[in-house]
Amino acid sequence: MVKDYKSIGRITIVTNTKIEIKDLYKIFGPNPAVMLNKVKAGISKEELLEKYNHTVGLQDINIGIPACGIQVVMGLSGAGKSTLIRHINRLIEPTSGKIIVDGEDVLAMQQKELTNFRRFKASMVFQKFSLFPHRTVTENVAYGLKIQSKSKDEITNISSEWIERVGLGGFENHYPAQLSGGMQQRVGLIRALATNPDILLMDEAFSALDPLIRSDMQNILLELQKELNKTIVFITHDLDEALKLGDNIVILRGGEMVQQGNPQEIILKPIDDYVTDFTKDINRGKIIQVKHIIEKEPASSDFVIDANTTVEEAIEKLVNADISSASVKEKSSIIGSITTKNLVSVISRR
Ligand SMILES: Nc1ncnc2c1ncn2[C@@H]1O[C@H](COP(=O)(O)OP(=O)(O)OP(=O)(O)O)[C@@H](O)[C@H]1O
Ligand SMILES: [Mg+2]
Repeated sequence: MVKDYKSIGRITIVTNTKIEIKDLYKIFGPNPAVMLNKVKAGISKEELLEKYNHTVGLQDINIGIPACGIQVVMGLSGAGKSTLIRHINRLIEPTSGKIIVDGEDVLAMQQKELTNFRRFKASMVFQKFSLFPHRTVTENVAYGLKIQSKSKDEITNISSEWIERVGLGGFENHYPAQLSGGMQQRVGLIRALATNPDILLMDEAFSALDPLIRSDMQNILLELQKELNKTIVFITHDLDEALKLGDNIVILRGGEMVQQGNPQEIILKPIDDYVTDFTKDINRGKIIQVKHIIEKEPASSDFVIDANTTVEEAIEKLVNADISSASVKEKSSIIGSITTKNLVSVISRR
């Protein structure tokens, strides 16, 4: 596994890169290799399409996805999100570039290895649920376990545990068409999880659901993730979903990576107008934590607030205590201070 050393202030965090995507290009059309040279030489996507009838799906993508976190990939329709996630389990072959998972080159895998990789290591959850319509809930969940050659008892135990876990007890013998969208996607999720893969690939998995059900599914995923610590690649075009789920976010536009960072970085330091546009309508106060906006001056009160408190909560605390500034504590040390003025300016900035 490749080690990644990230320095944030004085702290060095060591993380493990689970999935590395290196210099990835995907060009759709009959002659991608020839077109690749033109793209690398700087031809525009528009010209490539007009003159040569080839589409640039992805261009020069480099991403290190850390283990045990939720990596969100965000972008508008046609940005290349599905193309990107499908490279990870090689449903799509790149025009050039590398996909490395746990130090292993996915593109070098022979068919058998690749089949095992998809069965044991990287499961996919689809937007349209993609359940087997003529199989019951239990049979759907058991499917991946059967091809893993688990014993009958194991299959029964694991399936029923997962079914109970997401509140589908009693529906074991129902067919997908007899379930609501939210229930179907719970089956889709546990069918992927039952095989205990390290990696979950989720392409707009919740996008087809009504807002309330969608929010439920997001909560279920976060709850499960606390326990399971999978490496999840989650695609969405919805910023609220990205911010709620993502430990890291990559933003794509027209097949290119525009920005990557944690939710705080994306909101506080949008790299250009495109990202600013994405982020302008969100409730910043609910997302940004005070540790990202601290000042150096000592606080004018004895009040101490935790570094992970959101701006919105901090304002409430300061107003209730009738003070205009407080110290910010991370672990056991004071790392700076915040003022109501600064807190409010974060929320009102557009
Ligand atoms: N098989 C294909 N042949 C030709 N062009 C393709 C193919 N698949 C994708 N594309 C093109 O590549 C670009 C990226 O498509 P992709 O499906 O990855 O976008 P997306 O971000 O997933 O969009 P959406 O939000 O609509 O799902 C688009 O311009 C699309 O038309
Ligand atoms: Mg897509």
